Amino acid sequence: MQAWSSDETPIHFIEGRTPLELAGAAAFQYKQCRNCHQLGGIGGERGPELDSIATRKTTNELIRQAIQGGGNMPTYGHNLSPEELISIVAFLSTLHPENESPAQTADVSLNPTN
Ligand code: HEC
Repeated sequence: MQAWSSDETPIHFIEGRTPLELAGAAAFQYKQCRNCHQLGGIGGERGPELDSIATRKTTNELIRQAIQGGGNMPTYGHNLSPEELISIVAFLSTLHPENESPAQTADVSLNPTN
């Protein structure tokens, strides 16, 4: 398997991100998520590309997927520290097109203050 972990993260995935989100972008590389997931067309192809994953999964769904895996994705719960998990999810939840809002749970979108 080609090691994608040393490939660049395209600039628009990291520009303007908070330190926590940047830590998540780094963890996404060194925890080998990119071996199976493309960002900006670079990465493995066993899993779906995650360029706009935040439009498909809420924060809670991202946490569940990162910990439990599922489908053909391995379980990562034992392999991610709480800090790595939180930062990866913070990073992934920023990945949506500017003109498209991130996925929300129904209870959140029913609350007019959100
Ligand atoms: C060995 C390959 C592999 C690795 C490594 C891997 N994944 Fe996955 N991932 C998959 C596959 C395959 C799926 C699709 C699962 C399904 O169809 O239910 C997936 C699905 C996902 C999804 C949901 C995608 C969608 O379109 O809904 C997210 C989010 C995700 N992975 C995050 C991660 C993170 C974060 C890591 C690193 C901690 C990681 N993955 C590592 C293979 C992998």
